[in-house]
Amino acid sequence: MADGTQDTKSSNQMWGGRFASGPDAIMEEINASIGFDKKLFAQDIRGSIAHATMLAHQGIIAEEDKTKIVEGLEAIRTEIESGNFEFSRRLEDIHMNVEARLATLIGTAAGRLHTARSRNDQVAVDFRLWVKEELQRTDRALTGLIEAFLDRAEEHAETVMPGFTHLQTAQPVTFGHHCMAYVEMFGRDRQRVRHAIEHLDQNPLGAAALAGTGFPIDRHMTARALGFREPTRNSIDTVSDRDFALEFLAVASIAATHLSRLAEEIVIWSTPQFGFIRLSDAFSTGSSIMPQKKNPDAAELVRAKTGRINGSLIALLTVMKGLPLAYSKDMQEDKEQVFDAAESLELAIAAMTGMMRDMTIRTDRMKAAAGSGYSTATDLADWLVREAGLPFRDAHHVTGRAVALAESKGCELADLSLEELQSIHPDVKAGIFDVLTVEASVASRKSFGGTAPSQVREQIAWWRTAL
Ligand code: ARG
Repeated sequence: MADGTQDTKSSNQMWGGRFASGPDAIMEEINASIGFDKKLFAQDIRGSIAHATMLAHQGIIAEEDKTKIVEGLEAIRTEIESGNFEFSRRLEDIHMNVEARLATLIGTAAGRLHTARSRNDQVAVDFRLWVKEELQRTDRALTGLIEAFLDRAEEHAETVMPGFTHLQTAQPVTFGHHCMAYVEMFGRDRQRVRHAIEHLDQNPLGAAALAGTGFPIDRHMTARALGFREPTRNSIDTVSDRDFALEFLAVASIAATHLSRLAEEIVIWSTPQFGFIRLSDAFSTGSSIMPQKKNPDAAELVRAKTGRINGSLIALLTVMKGLPLAYSKDMQEDKEQVFDAAESLELAIAAMTGMMRDMTIRTDRMKAAAGSGYSTATDLADWLVREAGLPFRDAHHVTGRAVALAESKGCELADLSLEELQSIHPDVKAGIFDVLTVEASVASRKSFGGTAPSQVREQIAWWRTAL
């Protein structure tokens, strides 16, 4: 300016940067949440309709005003759904965008909607409703994934494969049994989802700014209208807390972590070296330079999305840590983490369901690998305990010598002759050969929850009725 004073409305050379109109523009950019919280429009309108209806029922606002408010809100919902709504960043968030539009549509009655309410309980109700719906979607998606696994498990209840510990061949298992391990994991994820729904199923509306309100509202009525079990019991907690969002992210992180282990197994199994599965073209890509390649991109991306989902949990935990009660604007940072994690998780579950349903199981390769690496050594030791009466520790020792002998001859345990086995322990009988095949090995493991095809079928049947 000519007199040398700073015009705060124009860009400041030192710190204004790209913010053409100075501090106002910076404030608007850091403060506004409309860019992401417009995703809550349907919940916001539902919450407002429930609130206005209750206000009229309690005689706090007039019936005519309520009717105008409800009609106006429904018109706004249609405008937003059909893409004919102009969101304004100047109006900060979804709540004020909707309310300002309502004022344009219905005039002064719009101003009565915010009676006995604050944006603090409003945002809490919108976000709880959204997270609840997302948890219900997650529940359905996980059920679909579990069903895919049950189908593959049924198909492959007898297919033998190597079971691993330390990624070293351990004992033969059935592919069906391996599939059922994931059913158990995703089944617990579903339980966690359901618990999370139970925990958040309380209505925040009516907590107002933080202390409740002097108006004679009926919070049970809005709870019923919005499908919540009951109203929350402490207004300060209601506007302060985001543990429902944290719990969603925690549940999502654990489920994603399960998905990432499956993703990693798919990556390993689909290598030419393992060759246990062939991915469908739909869930793999070719290389632009190496014509022979088929890459498990979808599995790799599921593995990577897990990092992103876990990151969202840590980010929100860190935002919430140490925040004094009640509402602070920090909490506006809750939504993007949840939205991003939800989108990633939905995609990861869908990709995994597709991959599991489409992949070809190469039973020949699995069986050949199951028999290598002395995978039936434990069965040999168990035979010596059962049939020759050896203590398990001694049997373990004798078996170790048999493995060493087979190794030195470059053959499998079942290829050793009876004489060779008897040279290691005189009590060995021909019957031992019955337990050295992989089929005999898996069939013998009939203990509850074990890998025998009969057990696997029993567990599949249990899950089918449980679903
Ligand atoms: N956009 C805000 C949020 O997401 C809404 C609540 C604002 N409340 C307030 N007192 N400024 O948290």
